[in-house]
Amino acid sequence: MDINRRTILTGGVAAAAVAPAAAQAQAQTPHGAPTKPLTLVNVAARDVLSLDGDWRYSIDPYRDGAAGFHGEQAGYGHRRYDTFNVEATMRANPNALIEYDMELSPTANLPSSWLTHEPTLRRYVGLMWYKRTFTLSGAAGKRAFVHVGAANYATTVFVNGTQIGAHEGGFTPFAFEIPAALVREGENQITLGVDSEATWDTVPPRVTDWENYGGITRGVHIVLTPQTFIDDAWIRLTREGRVAATVRLNGARARNAEVRVRIAALGLTLHGRTDGDGVWTGEAAAPRNLERWSPDRPQLYAVRVETAGDTLRERVGFRTIETRGDQILLNGEPIFLRGICIHEEELGAEPSRIITPENARALLTLAKEGLGCNFVRLAHYPHSEITTRLADELGLLVWSEIPVYWRINWENPRTLETARAMLAENIRRDRNRAAIALWSIGNETPLGEARLRFLAQLAADVRALDDTRLVTAALLTERRTQDGKPLMVLNDPLAEHLDVLGVNTYNGWYSNDALADVPGIAWRSDYGKPMIFSEFGADAKSGFHDAEGTHKFSEEFQAEYYRRTLEMAAKVPFLRGMSPWILKDFRSPRRQHPVYQQGWNRKGLVSPTGGRKQAFAVLAEHYRARAAN
Ligand code: GCU
Repeated sequence: MDINRRTILTGGVAAAAVAPAAAQAQAQTPHGAPTKPLTLVNVAARDVLSLDGDWRYSIDPYRDGAAGFHGEQAGYGHRRYDTFNVEATMRANPNALIEYDMELSPTANLPSSWLTHEPTLRRYVGLMWYKRTFTLSGAAGKRAFVHVGAANYATTVFVNGTQIGAHEGGFTPFAFEIPAALVREGENQITLGVDSEATWDTVPPRVTDWENYGGITRGVHIVLTPQTFIDDAWIRLTREGRVAATVRLNGARARNAEVRVRIAALGLTLHGRTDGDGVWTGEAAAPRNLERWSPDRPQLYAVRVETAGDTLRERVGFRTIETRGDQILLNGEPIFLRGICIHEEELGAEPSRIITPENARALLTLAKEGLGCNFVRLAHYPHSEITTRLADELGLLVWSEIPVYWRINWENPRTLETARAMLAENIRRDRNRAAIALWSIGNETPLGEARLRFLAQLAADVRALDDTRLVTAALLTERRTQDGKPLMVLNDPLAEHLDVLGVNTYNGWYSNDALADVPGIAWRSDYGKPMIFSEFGADAKSGFHDAEGTHKFSEEFQAEYYRRTLEMAAKVPFLRGMSPWILKDFRSPRRQHPVYQQGWNRKGLVSPTGGRKQAFAVLAEHYRARAAN
């Protein structure tokens, strides 16, 4: 894949900075009563019943449980989400024909992608049904919601045989209210239909460079709330150095309701009343004793948000991130981002993309303590909230992104709405994380007018949702020759809409450059904005050695590639960070060399089980030197 190729662009675009329509789209309960888009921020701190554990599952490649053979509603005997007992029904009624039985189907321990709970399903692309029961007690007088941390890719949720909502997007949380008429004190049934199929209209599209882990990959919870509750609370330090809070209530008494935000350690209380939409924003000068968050001192504060009948706890760091010319400033001081890219796969020979606190800590500690990073690019989709909260605790700045990746259908309005909703879900879930510094809206997308319009809208959405962070994307560059030497020119028109210009560069791997010539490659940007190398890397099969270091896929070649690329990087005056590709080898169906790849992308600095390749020490030494300056 030659990522330096580009086409000539014509025309300009403007984008209205409005909150994404899809994110405002009224999620319909089965009875048509509109419900507000839900965030249920910091769901783990709420009154929750975890549905982790055994679920029954039933494969449905022809989506028989979703539609009949003429496309009408699925017929009796095919609806996996029905609630009657199949065996008893067939014994009682000899005419009954039912061609599934969730009670007698195999069980899987969730959360888990299906290739994890059933390895023969690695290449299965399609619909999978999951069902379990749960017992509710103490729900009287409360509201009940189903909250899904993530399910890849499109999910339909049924409770007690009735659909309560549907969601598209494999990496962001979603929640639907269980209408009061459906909630039972005692045993309830929940069924999720999860369809992993990516098309040319989905986000990401059909072709990516990573394994498609289909299934329920993050926890499912039943959440009980008061009739009126705190749905979203965003607490932050503004660039003007003020502590600000925005709180959104949901429920009949959301309007004109009193709200308080207390930060006891700072002796600070903000309070006020919500408006007609149930929203309140307040701010105050930052107390003098406020200690700002930074990678070196990741100071977090306990925050309590209160309103009549509901209290929500959060832990928040306060810092500012901005640009000044071609510098990135953290708390007003220039910073160089010493980063590494990470896919969401745990260390181990058979990764399953199930991120536990231990798995996340192993990856982030390898970056922070092993390489000396102060920054990680969580590629190419929103990672688990476990990971972003841990980055807050450990002190790692984060590039967070949605999978607007390669060949998106820029012309399809529905694709745009999916991307906008995904972006809003990601930002609303994580904008209390001080670690997150950058929201990325795309990766290596081919130039064109429709693409520019699409991405300009996403950049505007970021600014509408969060005016305290930076907007970025991984851009393509144009290769020229100047005075007989290669010159990389950054002139992607999307740069006008960004604060920080990410560039993926693979000279010496995907190009014909001899490694010895890479340091001589010059860079030019006409934007006066900070650039970061959001990717560079080379494959190496751990343990494969080549004394001359000229054989691609050898550890020696990868180490020399890093030395030469780092030499080139040191000469770029507007380079303000880097996140080489990638911390760990990861699964990718596109990588099928029978000796060196076997279905893995081998650009990791460590092997799947964490074995450090020679290039690991090269980058670690480089970062130690940079940190010392
Ligand atoms: C691209 C892309 C990555 C991919 C990498 C590679 O830059 O962003 O997703 O894995 O190159 O080719 O290894």
